[in-house]
Amino acid sequence: MPVPTEVVAIDGPSGAGKSTIAKAVAQRLGFRHLDTGAMYRAVTLRFLDEGCAPDPTGSDSASLSPRMQVALAGMQLELLPQGRVRLDGRDVTEALRTQDVESRVSAVAALSFVRAAMTRLQREVAAASPIVAEGRDMTTVVFPKAQWKVFLTASAEERARRRCEDFKARGREVAFDTVLAEIQKRDLFDSSREDAPLRHDASAMLVDSTSMTTEQVVQRILDLVRGAQQASRA
Ligand code: DC
Repeated sequence: MPVPTEVVAIDGPSGAGKSTIAKAVAQRLGFRHLDTGAMYRAVTLRFLDEGCAPDPTGSDSASLSPRMQVALAGMQLELLPQGRVRLDGRDVTEALRTQDVESRVSAVAALSFVRAAMTRLQREVAAASPIVAEGRDMTTVVFPKAQWKVFLTASAEERARRRCEDFKARGREVAFDTVLAEIQKRDLFDSSREDAPLRHDASAMLVDSTSMTTEQVVQRILDLVRGAQQASRA
């Protein structure tokens, strides 16, 4: 197994602000940012392109599994600087955020063969350079021995409010109740699946960002990292 270099592992539910925070922390530390949600989204897009994506509940996953395994084995995923993602030679960064991908990615992320492939890739990235890795199983499964572990959360209402603002900034009006229901559904799916469910591991520092600014959250994580770095030098 590749040996990870320095890893800041961040887990948390949908909409907790992990990407924004992880990106900022990575920039300040000079580490690479690894958005593992984007990797699961890229696999979902590949399955959609190949016509074998499971439905949002995953009820047809078993019958589609052989075709999905072929599609996964043949896919070329490149994680570029600045968080851009290339799939089979084309830049799919924006395509990863469509409703089609959004509605099916949880069912794809529940598949053990997909998780095994992504875990392997994530560890390879971590072996190459220091990273800030964010997702649902960074602290529990992929990097359980990471030097720094954080569980970042916020109330479902606050997460829905932030997501509505994001949509608005991109010119889309989506009703708060719709967004809240989607977030609650996603939370339940991600935390009740059998393989690598989202959970707060006691060894990860809990950060509830409901009434914190982005800068406060970033500082809290930087304090954790720098505190431990100083302690190890003492
Ligand atoms: O963080 P996100 O919304 O881009 O994640 C997309 C989906 O992928 C979400 O359903 C959770 C899943 N995911 C996962 O299961 N494990 C990860 N390490 C990252 C994301």
